[in-house]
This record gives sequence, structure tokens and C-alpha cells, in this order.
Amino acid sequence: MAATEAPPTQKKSAAKAWDDWTASTGIPVHEGFYIQDLRTLQLGWWEERQCNAAFLKLAGQEGVSEARVTEIPAGQSLPPLKFALDEVVYVVEGRGITNIWREPGGQQTSFEWQKHSLFRLPRHHYRQLSSTQGGQPARLLHFNYLPITMTSVPDPEFFFNNSFVSTDGDSSELATFYSAATAVQRPDREWGGGSANWVGNFFPDMRAWDKLATQVNRGAGAAAVSITFPGAPMTSHMAVFPPFTYKKAHRHGPGVVIVVPAGEGYSVMWPEGQEKQLIRWQEASVMVPPNKWWHQHFNAGGAPARYLAMHCHPGVDVYSESVENLERDQIEYTAEDPWIRETFAAELVKKGLEPRMPAEAYTNRDYKWTPLKV
Ligand SMILES: [Fe+2]
Repeated sequence: MAATEAPPTQKKSAAKAWDDWTASTGIPVHEGFYIQDLRTLQLGWWEERQCNAAFLKLAGQEGVSEARVTEIPAGQSLPPLKFALDEVVYVVEGRGITNIWREPGGQQTSFEWQKHSLFRLPRHHYRQLSSTQGGQPARLLHFNYLPITMTSVPDPEFFFNNSFVSTDGDSSELATFYSAATAVQRPDREWGGGSANWVGNFFPDMRAWDKLATQVNRGAGAAAVSITFPGAPMTSHMAVFPPFTYKKAHRHGPGVVIVVPAGEGYSVMWPEGQEKQLIRWQEASVMVPPNKWWHQHFNAGGAPARYLAMHCHPGVDVYSESVENLERDQIEYTAEDPWIRETFAAELVKKGLEPRMPAEAYTNRDYKWTPLKV
């Protein structure tokens, strides 16, 4: 299914104010289940922001999260913008620099980013984004919780260039805001094999990030890193899993936006008891599993695949994201539909390849995978 086709099960969005605002900008709003490639996604001119841009309104965002693509022309700077919410940015293409300040004339900080960087832009601050790579525009994927916030405050002007000045903390803290991320112990987010919980506002290269821990519950010997942006409501994680394997199906609440930093494969998504959707992905693909749809990721390429998930709003998390019962929110290999295994084998056979799924994984629920080494 093409990304621009409206999925038959897509509900009317609860975020009417956000829908109205995005429509008023005149730039493209892409619907569907996924985006094949952000690098070639159709954008449109946004006069107010002085750039080409587009919104993603994929089925699973469901009025919770905003995803938006911005293009900065080679060697140019976008106009400064103050935004009332925290925002996370993933760099799809290009290289550049961001300047941040709280109030006009106040202290500034800046940091350089590159393709595959991940960083946070703090709420109630001005940001100015510039491309520093000659000959190639920068493309950025922005992620925030504006749609669900606008269900309470439906006035877009409240969120942009509002004169409110935060008194939270000291603006001198900006000097260290983009320091290197640090590892922390978070027992609630431990995965087997040790801690991979990192706190920071700048992650230089998610394609190269190698500080991972084994993600034992999800199979395939996968590894992962959990990311916290300090003081912001959003969290993230990135999973890495080996060639010619696939992870266990699972499900959770809406609003989780997934982007692929590296790899080649596909995912299958389906509502309980209904038809399965197959979504092919590679670097710069985006997908959003709809609320409580099962989804399962398959690595059909010759290298470890990576996907970066920007998590749903913590308020939504409370009632639908947390896995309370693995029997209800995860499908073990031993219990899966044979179609899953057969389709994976058929996909690889087309390329003269075969799965590296050990036979015992399908008979022994407690099969111990060899952890992925990255
Ligand atoms: Fe998921």
C-alpha cells in the first residue's frame, strides 16, 4: 500500500485543532501506514518558515504525536523560531548547526550535527537551524506532542513565538545542555545483559552508536539502547538485530514514530484477527504501528538492521503503552502464525538466501539466543 493511500481503518483524528492548523500551512500532509523514504518525500514551500516541509499524519499517530520533515537549503539558515514544547530531531540528510537561546540578547549555545544525529530542542527556547554542507540540503525529521497538546489548547499561536519566558532553571545551563550523553542505571528500563540507558540531549550518530545491551525478551539476539532526554517528556529507544532474523511480534499504544537509520527488511502489522500489512523498509523509512496493532520486524539484509523508536506521550503510556502481560502483548515464536515464518523464508529465497532462525527457537520458548555483537 502506498503511503499516501488512506488506510481503511484510520479513525477520524481526535486532534482536530492540529489537523486544521497543519491544513492551514498549505504544505503536504502525508497519510497512510508508512513512508518509504524520507530522503525523497514530496515537500512543499512553507512561506512562514521559509523552507520546504511536510507533515506526516500516519495512521498510528492517532492525534498523539507530530512528525514533520524540514529541508534546509544548502548553506542557508532558517528564521529563528520559538516553540513552547520540547521537540526531538533526527537528521535524515546533511550537516549543520543549531543555535539555541532563551530570550533575545541572552546566552546562546550551539552544536553541530550530521547525518544520523539525534538531538532535542528545549521548550520555550528559540532555535535557529542552519545547513553547513555545500551542495546538499539538510533534511530533518522533527517529533513532538503538539497534536495531543492542542486537544486542550487549540490555539496554534500559543505555541509559536509566545513571549512567555521560562524561569525553570538558569539559562546558563545552556552551556552544558548538549554535552556528551551519560549512562545511567534505570531498573525500570533494564534489558538483559546490562544497562544501556543513556541520558542526554545530543547523540551524534545513531547509525554508529554501539553502546547497547541485549534485549532478551524480544528474541533474535537483538540489542538496544534506551534514551532519556532530561527534563523533557519524551523517551526513545533504538533496537539493532542480526541479518536474516526477525523479532517477536508485540503491540502497544499509538504515537510511536519509528525511523530506520540502517538496514533493509520489512515489518508486518495487523489488528488482532485481521489482515496483515507488509511494509518494506530501508534507511530513512518511517512507520507508525496503530494503537494495539501487532507489529513484527524482519531483517532481510546482509547487515544488522537498526530502528529508532520515538515513544508515545507519557500520558498515553499510562493506559496503553506499558506491557502488563507478555502473554497478551507479545507473540512468542512458539505460538506465532506459520505464515510469519513461511513468508520470511520466501522473501529470502527470492534473493538466494535463507533465514538464520534456529529451529529450536520454534520449539523451546526459553531458547537462549547468542547476543548480537555490534
Ligand atoms: Fe513497538
